[in-house]
Amino acid sequence: MPDWYKDAVFYQIFVRAFCDSNGDGIGDLNGIVSKLDYLRDLGVNALWLMPITPSPLRDHGYDVSGHFDVHPDYGTLADFRALVDAAHARDVRVIVELVPNHTSDQHPWFQASRDPAHPEHAKYRDWYVWSDTDKKYPDARIIFIDYEKSNWTWDEKRGQFFWHRFFHHQPDLNFDNPHVQRAMMRVAQFWVDQGADGIRVDAPPYLIEREGTNCENLPESHAYYKRLRAFLDAYAPDTMLLAEANQWARDTLPYFGDGDEFQMNFHFPLMPRIYLALAQGQRAPLDWILAQTPPIPQNCQWATFLRNHDELTLEMVTPQEREFMWDFYAPDVAMRKNLGIRRRLAPLLDNDRAKIKVAHSLLLTLIGSPVLYYGDEIGMGDNIKLDDRWGVRTPMQWNDAPNAGFSNAPREKIYLPAIDDDAYGYSRVNVAAAERVPDSLLRWIRRALKIRAQHPAFARGALQTLATTNPAVFAYWRAAPQEKLLVVNNLSGRTQNVSLELNTRGSVRDLENGAALSFENVLNLELPRYGYRWFALAP
Ligand code: NOJ
Repeated sequence: MPDWYKDAVFYQIFVRAFCDSNGDGIGDLNGIVSKLDYLRDLGVNALWLMPITPSPLRDHGYDVSGHFDVHPDYGTLADFRALVDAAHARDVRVIVELVPNHTSDQHPWFQASRDPAHPEHAKYRDWYVWSDTDKKYPDARIIFIDYEKSNWTWDEKRGQFFWHRFFHHQPDLNFDNPHVQRAMMRVAQFWVDQGADGIRVDAPPYLIEREGTNCENLPESHAYYKRLRAFLDAYAPDTMLLAEANQWARDTLPYFGDGDEFQMNFHFPLMPRIYLALAQGQRAPLDWILAQTPPIPQNCQWATFLRNHDELTLEMVTPQEREFMWDFYAPDVAMRKNLGIRRRLAPLLDNDRAKIKVAHSLLLTLIGSPVLYYGDEIGMGDNIKLDDRWGVRTPMQWNDAPNAGFSNAPREKIYLPAIDDDAYGYSRVNVAAAERVPDSLLRWIRRALKIRAQHPAFARGALQTLATTNPAVFAYWRAAPQEKLLVVNNLSGRTQNVSLELNTRGSVRDLENGAALSFENVLNLELPRYGYRWFALAP
């Protein structure tokens, strides 16, 4: 199906964390295979695997040191192909990562580029962004402000500075070099050849540098992505390209092009406003960002999310909103990282089931295709004692056996300890326990995904918000030719009454319990704290 991604629900997996099949304390591809039935039954349609290629793992694999293999911790290329086959047999697709902007400093390309005595130096000399001065491109911001003071680092061997938008051990590739452009296309081609159905493109805004600009979203970068897309369209037509462009909605529009660049892009500015709306008990932040969100080409789709493997980024909010969100959601400075918050969904929302559900109600019924982060479906916690973003990348909690059933290696061999605090520890919070409890979060999410799958208007319908006199209630239609859905969310921690002016007479059916409600012009509802209702308009 050409635009399968428009109806899909995605599930993001940190491979290291998911399931260890060989008892070495590290999650691997075969471990994922053993959990495919769980994932299919959950109702997800595509798995996004975080980087699986060789890497010194100083940035969890986003520091790529080899593009054409699987990191030995995770398995082999044959294991990857077997995973793809097993996923496809269950009608589940597999998305891999492409990190075009940079490599690890351990990558053979960089080793050859930095070392004038290297036998291949002449070939790779211009593959990275080198300079005699560290004064170029002063308008480019520093992204990892907690770790880096400059986007330039001095290299002794080469006797020059190299450019890096992220860690100093991640030199940026020089995309003005046609050899680099071609090499990255070969990488994309290689993973399509291995069976990948789509590619998440890491950090796409920063590909090209130009003096006098902030070196983000430059037309030359878009030109390259259009070529990449044209190449994939010709070579493997249904391959989906997903951009991780952390930008304002208007700046992300060019990533969709005329439907000839990325099919999908993460909606970064929407995500923090879901939290803002819940913190304030007000719909205004959501109304505001939806008004800022431009229409996108017909073959494109937003990727929406509540959390991912990084800090909850507050780059796309105002400074005042950021201060408020830090104070509200990250009162302990240890919870903050760079311009964001390094916590998981359940702890962010006070482990309050109703709040977690209404956040999912927004995620599953507003615009876009939802992307779930592994472990959030069981309400996993985080560990802020761990450095950087490790605290939200702990082992998946499968059961109450040692190591949360993630691995049967001795505890000291596990790449990170499973969460074992009072509220979120694996003896309480785990998949097996959630399966046993009829009203568990896991079972609720499974049902919610099932309902969503039965109503394609949630994925494709036009969004039309409904004005309400009660600012705590956020209501909207999702209208498609075959059905019209009505969603009503109470964003506040108090019971709310709302009168929805529907200006006609008819009835709606509750999609969860089948109850019919008839109305004449006005639909009156009482919603419990953080309550939500999903309805279909009777034809
Ligand atoms: C974005 C990724 O999501 C993040 O985890 C990584 O550190 C940076 N890109 C640098 O590759």
